Amino acid sequence: MAYENIKTNLREGLLIVTIDRPKVLNALNAETVQEIYEAFSKARDDENVKAVIVTGGGEKAFVAGADINELAQKTPITGKETSERGQAVLSFIERFPKPVIAAINGFALGGGCELALACHIRIASEKAQIGLPEVTLGIIPGYGGTQRMARLLGKGKALELICTGDRIGAADAERIGLVNKVVPADQLMSVAEEMARKMMSRGPLAIRAAIEAVIRGGEMPFEEGQFLEATLFGLLCASDDTKEGMNAFLEKRPARFKGR
Ligand code: COA
Repeated sequence: MAYENIKTNLREGLLIVTIDRPKVLNALNAETVQEIYEAFSKARDDENVKAVIVTGGGEKAFVAGADINELAQKTPITGKETSERGQAVLSFIERFPKPVIAAINGFALGGGCELALACHIRIASEKAQIGLPEVTLGIIPGYGGTQRMARLLGKGKALELICTGDRIGAADAERIGLVNKVVPADQLMSVAEEMARKMMSRGPLAIRAAIEAVIRGGEMPFEEGQFLEATLFGLLCASDDTKEGMNAFLEKRPARFKGR
């Protein structure tokens, strides 16, 4: 499929989705949000895709937010619809059954920060600047940012970032747990790829169950999350991959997982 606003590149099981509107620092207009959804939807059903990296085109930005030209036109009705659509697409990414890594190569602001928050892992270049500046425009984050930021960092830090609208650099983002790791700009994609390929070498059913337990379980009360964990654990015990993983350990050889 040809996209106007994103690029996709599948190589040896790893799909790279590049948000590619560098002239507006990869701002997310409605069309871009739809294309991101289509790319992920296709990737979910494509068994050749084992993991995804999301990054931004050009030198400066991952994604500098929702497209302010579009936002400026919103009414209460279309504003709510836009927020709900963005929320749905980012929840689809968060619940994706294969690992999704954000490679944050520059500004990750507003909707860009929210996109990164919906990914399972965030790796930042030293040049990254991350924040939720919506209040400076008189709005609030609308693509799940108020919820994911507070769940990731706690309410205090989330409210500080959301209510000041301040951007923070990569080192501070790592210190507060907003990103998993910070790397020199020229190593960003290779480090993200290395982590993705490590996850791709593990049992894909186990990876899928781990994401489901952490993401879905995290939305549940503790006991229900544990119930989900035990159910997934039990289900995996019926898989060929689990037998292969155990046998490989006992036979002192690498496992050959088949996703069955
Ligand atoms: N929506 C639409 N256009 C955007 C945009 C956005 N979110 N972010 C940047 N752009 C455009 C700018 O308008 C500019 O267009 P122009 O060349 O036609 O003037 C172009 O991208 C380059 O941005 P510019 O502001 O000139 O770059 P900069 O390096 O001086 O500043 C930022 C970079 C990211 C600090 C600044 O662009 C910015 O604050 N962007 C908005 C961030 C934001 O509030 N996001 C949340 C939206 S809810």
